[in-house]
This record gives sequence, C-alpha cells and structure tokens, in this order.
Amino acid sequence: MHLIGEHVVVSDQALNYLRNYLESKNYSAIFVLVDENTAKYCLPHLGDLEMHLIQIESGETNKNLDTCTRIWDALFRAKADRHSVLINLGGGVIGDMGGFCAATYKRGIDCIQAPTSLLAMVDASVGGKNGIDYRDYKNFIGLYVEPAMVFIQPKLLDTLPERQFMAGYAEMLKHGLISDAAYWSELKEVNKRRLKLQIEKSVELKHSIVGEDPHEKGKRKWLNFGHTIGHAIESYCLENGRDFLHGEAVAAGMYMEAIISAKTGLTHEDILQVRETITKLYPKAPVQANEAPEIWSFVLGDKKNKSGQVNCTLLTSIGQAIYDIRIHFPEFQEALNIYLSS
Ligand SMILES: NC(=O)c1ccc[n+]([C@@H]2O[C@H](COP(=O)([O-])OP(=O)(O)OC[C@H]3O[C@@H](n4cnc5c(N)ncnc54)[C@H](O)[C@@H]3O)[C@@H](O)[C@H]2O)c1
Repeated sequence: MHLIGEHVVVSDQALNYLRNYLESKNYSAIFVLVDENTAKYCLPHLGDLEMHLIQIESGETNKNLDTCTRIWDALFRAKADRHSVLINLGGGVIGDMGGFCAATYKRGIDCIQAPTSLLAMVDASVGGKNGIDYRDYKNFIGLYVEPAMVFIQPKLLDTLPERQFMAGYAEMLKHGLISDAAYWSELKEVNKRRLKLQIEKSVELKHSIVGEDPHEKGKRKWLNFGHTIGHAIESYCLENGRDFLHGEAVAAGMYMEAIISAKTGLTHEDILQVRETITKLYPKAPVQANEAPEIWSFVLGDKKNKSGQVNCTLLTSIGQAIYDIRIHFPEFQEALNIYLSS
C-alpha cells in the first residue's frame, strides 16, 4: 500500500482497505454513487457491503443540478443523516458531483472518493475541488471540501476504454509539463507497465501543490495549465453537441497554451516537443478556425478571470509554470490556427 499524505491510498487492494475503513468508522448508513458503467465494472470489486446504491447516467452532460436533485432525493428518501457517508465510485463526473452533493446535504456528510477512471485517479479525486456545470460553463457551481479518504485501485482501469484512458493521461502529461521535466520525458511514450508508479507520482505532485495552496490563491493555479483554453473548447463542444472529452480538450489546450508560452520564455524546441507528443497521442478538437470568436466567449466566461481580463497559466520552460499571465484574443486565434494546421 502506498499512502500519500494522510488520506490517499494507492493500492491494488485499495477497495479492501476501504471496507476496513468503513468498519472502523461505524457510519449510520453507507451510500454508493455509481453510473451504469461503474455499476457494471467496478461495483463488484467492492464486495459484500450493506449499502444504498444511487445510480445515475454517465457523461458530462449529466453533471448538473437536475442530477444533484436526484442524488439529494435518494439520500433524503433513505433518511441519510449527518453520520452517513457517500462513496463516489466512478470517474470525475461522479467524484465532482457526488462530492458536491455530500458537502451540501444537511450542510455536509462524509464523502469518500473511490476513483475508477485514470483522470479521476490522478486528478479529480485529489485536492478537494468539487462541483457541477452550469449553463454550459464547466464547474461553475461548487466548493472546496476534502474527502474523508481517497482509495485508488489502479487495477480498476482494466475495463476503462482506451479513449478515456488517454483523456486521463493528458492530466499526467500536465503534471510533468508544469513541475517535473524528467517525468514529462518519461510520459512522452505511454508505458502501461509503469502506470501504477506514474499514478503515484502524479498524485504526489498534485497533493504537494494543493497542500501548499489549498484554495488556489497562488501555486495551485499551475494545475490550470491547458485548462483556460481547454475548458472553453470543452464547453463549446458541449454546447454544440460535439463529442470531445475533458482530457482531450485539456491536451488541445496545453498545446495552444504552450504556443502562447513563447511570450513567457518557452523555447521553440520545447513548443515542438509539446506539439509532437500531443498530436501523436490525441485527436484534433472538432472545431474550425472561424469559430475562434465563439470559443473565446467561453474563455471570457472562465471563472479564473478577474475584471474581464483573461488570466492564464503558461510555461516558462518544460517543468516550470507561471500563473496569472494575461492573454488576448489575437494570441488565441493564432494559437488555434497553428494547432489546427499541424
Ligand atoms: N475536481 C477536480 O479537481 C477535477 C480535475 C479534473 C477533472 N475534473 C472533472 O472530471 C470530469 C471528467 O472525469 P472523467 O474523465 O473520469 O469522466 P467520467 O466520469 O465521465 O468517466 C468517463 C467514462 O468512463 C466510464 N468509466 C469510469 N471508470 C470506468 C471503469 N473502471 N471501467 C469502465 N468504464 C469506466 C464512465 O462511466 C464514463 O462513461 C470532468 O467533469 C472534469 O471537469 C475534476
């Protein structure tokens, strides 16, 4: 077992440790939130457990208030009290939304993250951010609340579709790009035999950044690299019914933000490295150059902005990020053009 900080367990026995943990806590009731895929593939790994199951439909389009109402209703109907616990057994959608519902139900019940997608393991389950989308804006309503525990069982990834796997891998690439050049170099070639170690490495990096700045006043903003443009592309695709995953949008966003990072000192060679890796591993975003103004309107709605200015995290070199750098529409348009033509 690998314990990161005081409450993140990484182990191929993690769900056994979760059961032991539940026994030791004596919760009044145990609720498990799943979607149809994690119900099928991951729930059996939880073993026998006296629990209430709450199942929702998978997908980012369901990460909204209507689904929250269904989750709160399920807790309410089963008479969940403040000594109940909600276990989020799923990807980032389940984790973010379950975390939000748990933190707000009766002003907060315990929540345990049991991430089942790579993205949720290396990113969404760690750091206490949770929430839902609102009117096509990503993660617009939410709060910071740490889960009681996080149990990461990498073996659960055996059933994760490859496309979803690569989407999560984008966040690992980000960890290398913002804070560890050697890790980035290792990740440029996917090597699943090293995956468990890499999950631990990514969780450690994220955990340490978040530990220094839990409420994103400074260094935690590094983790937003790729997300200013990435979220805008994701939201635009969501609004227009185009199929593009969060992690894929982040990969596209990292490439474009790397291009813009020329102004903060990222060298041409380093931009080429980012380009080569991302174009090799990821599909192109389903957007056109002439849609730049509409995508930019989502960038303008980004919750990290202040007084209408777009603040972005950029790179100064591979392994080193800088936050709160103002970017403008012409830079975005140019980066989008280069991205689409490469
Ligand atoms: N809170 C944070 O800090 C944070 C960080 C990054 C991303 N996020 C959020 O995470 C979400 C994306 O997470 P995601 O990529 O995990 O999406 P997701 O939750 O939609 O999961 C992806 C798909 O994989 C399926 N799945 C999950 N685990 C599986 C398994 N083991 N076997 C088979 N199928 C499985 C799910 O049912 C779903 O269809 C976004 O909403 C994003 O905003 C949050």
